This record gives sequence, structure tokens and C-alpha cells, in this order.
Amino acid sequence: MSEKIYDVPAAWAKKAWLNDAKYKKMYAASIKDPDKFWGEHGKRIDWFKPYSKVRNASYKPGKVSIKWFEDGTTNVAYNCVDRHLATRAKQTAIIWEGDDPSESKKITYGQLHTEVCKFANVLKAKGVKKGDRVTIYLPMIPEAAYAMLACARIGAVHSVVFGGFSPDSLANRIEDADSKVVITADEGLRGGRPVPLKKNVDAADDKVKGGIGTVIVVKRTGGHVTMKEGRDVWYHDEAAKASGHCPPAEMKAEDPLFVLYTSGSTGKPKGVLHTTAGYLVYASMTHQYVFDYHDGEIYWCTADVGWVTGHSYILYGPLANGATTLMFEGIPTYPTISRFWDVVDKHKVNTFYTAPTAIRSLMGAGEEPVKKTKRKSLRLLGSVGEPINPEAWEWYHRVVGDDRCPIVDTWWQTETGGILITPLPGATKLKPGSATRPFFGVKPELVDAEGKVLEGAAEGNLVIAESWPGQMRTVYGDHKRFEETYFATYPNKYFTGDGCRRDADGYYWITGRVDDVINVSGHRMGTAEVESALVAHPKVSEAAVVGYPHDIKGQGIYAYVTLMAGEKANEDLRKELVAHVRKEIGPIASPDLIQFAPGLPKTRSGKIMRRILRKIAEDEFGALGDTSTLADPAVVDDLIKNRQNKR
Ligand code: WTA
Repeated sequence: MSEKIYDVPAAWAKKAWLNDAKYKKMYAASIKDPDKFWGEHGKRIDWFKPYSKVRNASYKPGKVSIKWFEDGTTNVAYNCVDRHLATRAKQTAIIWEGDDPSESKKITYGQLHTEVCKFANVLKAKGVKKGDRVTIYLPMIPEAAYAMLACARIGAVHSVVFGGFSPDSLANRIEDADSKVVITADEGLRGGRPVPLKKNVDAADDKVKGGIGTVIVVKRTGGHVTMKEGRDVWYHDEAAKASGHCPPAEMKAEDPLFVLYTSGSTGKPKGVLHTTAGYLVYASMTHQYVFDYHDGEIYWCTADVGWVTGHSYILYGPLANGATTLMFEGIPTYPTISRFWDVVDKHKVNTFYTAPTAIRSLMGAGEEPVKKTKRKSLRLLGSVGEPINPEAWEWYHRVVGDDRCPIVDTWWQTETGGILITPLPGATKLKPGSATRPFFGVKPELVDAEGKVLEGAAEGNLVIAESWPGQMRTVYGDHKRFEETYFATYPNKYFTGDGCRRDADGYYWITGRVDDVINVSGHRMGTAEVESALVAHPKVSEAAVVGYPHDIKGQGIYAYVTLMAGEKANEDLRKELVAHVRKEIGPIASPDLIQFAPGLPKTRSGKIMRRILRKIAEDEFGALGDTSTLADPAVVDDLIKNRQNKR
């Protein structure tokens, strides 16, 4: 862990929204009197009916309930689009950069308004009403933004599913959210290769109980698809009939805005539910201060809208602030490994926000592909999704940012709605690898296994002691699971699932997940999900999955597999199992290493000892700890002997 310190550049401290003294003052105020603090900052969005209550949150066991601004009414699409029309109708809202560098376009706030209204009217014509769930399975095209905002406009609840998920994963999410309408495209395009989205929806439909009612298909590539009579419609046909006016629905502050599925340590992915006003206040406020957003700047977050980062920091935060946000369809290495920096130069990007895994993979190709581009417009860099190792941080700072741009290492989660721990570029001295200090209203604590709060410099589990407006409100359809997952481990606190160290300066260093969640290339994955995909294969009797350190992905997926009696372990079967997991979950869940094991280490009561499997995968045989409680200690020797090597 590096302790090198980067001071705030003098120019930044002067012109940024916040300097260190202002941050400290506002932070103290936000903790001392949250009602007063958020009562004032809640006004950053427009309200149809103002709120009189600010915060009403309880983390009490069995009675967890979180409400913000509950008696106010507003509309998210109105705040992201309509309220800017008077001053920004001709300003670019979205710059879209296609997979192919010859394709790009700019959408003004005025055009965005028309497109969102049209999409909203198409949804209405298909029978979508306030409170209905709509599943969105689209590539990174402007229609994804239109569709999400259209749902928000009429009060429908969107559930965006990342285009890399398989038909099975898609079907599970459609069924859990009980969506009758799915919005997709004929195909996506990534790195010049088509992604068969519509075909995946067709395959998913066969698995959804009761089937999907309506599929709205956006034409992206023109690739061949089969349209099912009575179920499928082309978006362009419907839009041609739709009006460009649609009044925004009056929504209560606590009406649901979206569901987004994310992986946990057990069971199937959870539908994280976010509501209207608190989410938008928090997303827009963090976007303004963390990225020090000023009018006229070009802001680019490279995430996909299928993840929470895309929701909060491509769409809702920036648009609520009247920003120009860039949406990128492609990948960092196509057509060349300079693509990110070419796009920065092409659109004069000022703020660039990406994941450490992208930085690490580009680092491997050396400095030349970066240095041959100008990047003069850049002023700020951001990182999200996983811990950034100091080497990657330094490279990002020196090579990409020419030693000139601060880096904001932002820690947060799907559940938190927005950034919770982060530097503020005009206020915070940076330490490579540290997410530094909490945002306003965020009260992080470190606790030991017994829940004792640790003071000063310490390492423990990260919990958040008080509610903040962007916090998730429940697990869709399963409030009990919400309470059990986040509020049962340490009563009266929100448990993040992350480990963390706080240094003597009060800086936070996230050390990674402490539960059975792994983070592969910034994608969150439950080991249990990969295990259940593996055991669904007829030749597999048992499987245990753990993470191991991977140079580029951060963590790789290591699977221990026990075969059914009589099955032969060989290279072909290994490939078959990888293909099987890709089919069940999606390519992001492909195991990196599979070890065939005659037996797994179990306690006498039959519980798999993951601690041991983790240590073997991490190559730390010396630290296996006590193995004497194992039912059959000999299995460990075999596991060590046949350990798969890191690639
Ligand atoms: C990890 C992504 C270290 C963490 C926004 C968290 C990070 C999980 C950082 C949430 C960071 C995210 N430093 N770790 N800056 N940002 N994480 O829900 O383990 O996809 O719990 O949200 O990613 O992942 P999720």
C-alpha cells in the first residue's frame, strides 16, 4: 500500500465547487443535522409539490424502513429533461459514440425531450401503466436512455438487464420483476461483432412462466431477426405513430424508479429497488461535486447502462445537472487500443470515469498507444467498481492524465445508489489506492466480527451507520431478504459486505469483499450462482467456486469440480463446462480455472470449507490454518498437488 500523497493542485482548490475547508464544514453539518442539511439540498431538484418531511429511516431489526422527502412529489424525467428546456434546448445532452468510429451523433435536450415523450407514448400504447415493470435489454445506444427516461416519465419501473447476460439470466430477471414488456434491439455491436439480443429474448421467452406479453425491438444493425406475430413490434413503426408530447406523471418521492439485479453471497440475484426523489437528489449531488461538474463540460463514464454506474453516472446524475454526457457503444480495444483516448480527443472530453480493470488491461500495451493521442481536454479522471492497485493508479495519473489530472477513486455499490466514499478533486489530497473520505451525510464505521466499533486507525468490516437519500429501499418483492442481507449482521447498521482499513489520516482503503461475492473485471458475481450453474451440468456432482488474484481482472474465477462417478476429467470436459457456465449465466461468469477434484474439504457436518479452497486458489498453502476438523484431511493434499496455475 502506497503512502505517497498528491496535493490538490492550486488551480483546482480555487476554481472547484469545494475546497478542503468547505468540505469539512459541509460534512460536519451533514452529520450533525441531516434533516437540515438534506432539507436544503433536496431543493436541488424541482418538485411538483414540495416536501415538508425530510428523513424517516429506521434500521431497527424487523422494522427496517427508509423514506426520504416522503410527502413531496416530482418526476425524474421532468428533472432530467424538461426543466432544462428553457435554457438548454439546443445544448447537447448526449453524445453517442458508436462501436465503429465513423458513427457518432449528438442529441440536444430539445431532441431528447421529443424522443423520451415518443417512447413514453409507445409504452402507454402497449398498455404500460404507473408501477408496471419494464425490462430493458438494449445495447449502448441512445434508445436505452430514451427507454429508461420514458419509464420514469410515466411512472413505470425499469429493470435494465446487461446485454452480456444469457437468455436464462434474462428470463429469471423478467420473471422475478414480473415484467410484461421487454425492450430490446435486433442486435448489439461490440468490437465489430454482433450480439444476438433479440434471439436471446426469444430464447428467454420460452423459459418465462406465462411468457412475455410484448417485445419492442429497436433496429440497430439490421441483422436478421424473426418477429413473432402478436408479441413483437418494431420500435420505429410504433414511434412513427406516437406523439412527441407526453406529460410527466406526478410521482411520490418514494414511488419506485427502478429495479436492478445484483449478485449476493447466496441464492439468485436480488432486485435492488431504488425510488424516485432521494435517489435523484443523491445521484445529481454526487455527480456535481465528485466530478466537479461545471456547465459546458463534456463528461464521459465508460460503464454500460446495464450496471448501476450507468444508471447513476451516465444517465440520471449528469442529466439532472444539465450536463453533456457521452455514451459509448464499443470497447476500449476496437478498432485499436487507443480508442478511449481517440474518443477523448474527438469529443474533447473533460472528465473520464472508468474501471481499474480497463486501466490494467491497457497498461499491458505500454504507453505509446496513449501518448500518441493528445488528451489536452482532460481535467479529471475517475475510477470505480473494484479496488485500484497503486501501480495502476500511478499509471493512470502519469500516462493518461499527464500528471495533471486528479483521480477520484469512488467507492459505492448498486445498493447505495450513488458514491459514498470518494475524493473531491478540489478538496482532497490523494493517496493512490485509497477512496479517501466519506461524501456528505455518509457515516462509515469499521466493526470487528462481533460488531464492536473500531476507532482511529483500524481494519474491519465496513458498515454505514445512518441512512442517506440514495440508499436502496428494499429487495423487490422480498423485504425480509433485504433486512437479512444488510441489517442482520450488525443490528442498526447497513452492512456493505466490504472489508476496509482506515489510516491515521482518517482515509478509507477498501480491501475487497468479505462475503462470497467476487469482483471479476469490476463485475459483481456470487460464487453460489456460478456453482449452481456448474452443478446443473449432468456430469458434475459438486462444485465450489472462489476468487483468486488476477493481474487484469482483479479477481479471476476458480472452480473446484467433483464429477459424477464414472465421468472422465479431461480438457474437453473443461471446455464444455466453461461453455456451459457462459450459456447459463453469460460470458462474464466464465471460470478462468477449473480444477477437477475427487473430493472437497468438508467439516464432519458436511459444510464445504471455503477458507481452505480460497487459500489454495490464492497460492497460499502456508496459511491453510487448522485442517484437523475436516472429515477427510487427505483431500487437501490432493487439491494442493493438482492446483491449477494462474494464467
Ligand atoms: C467494489 C459498483 C474498491 C466493492 C458501483 C463493492 C470498490 C462492489 C470500489 C459493488 C472502489 C466498487 N474501490 N472497491 N472504488 N467501487 N467496489 O454493486 O467491493 O457492481 O461492494 O457497484 O464493488 O459493486 P457494484
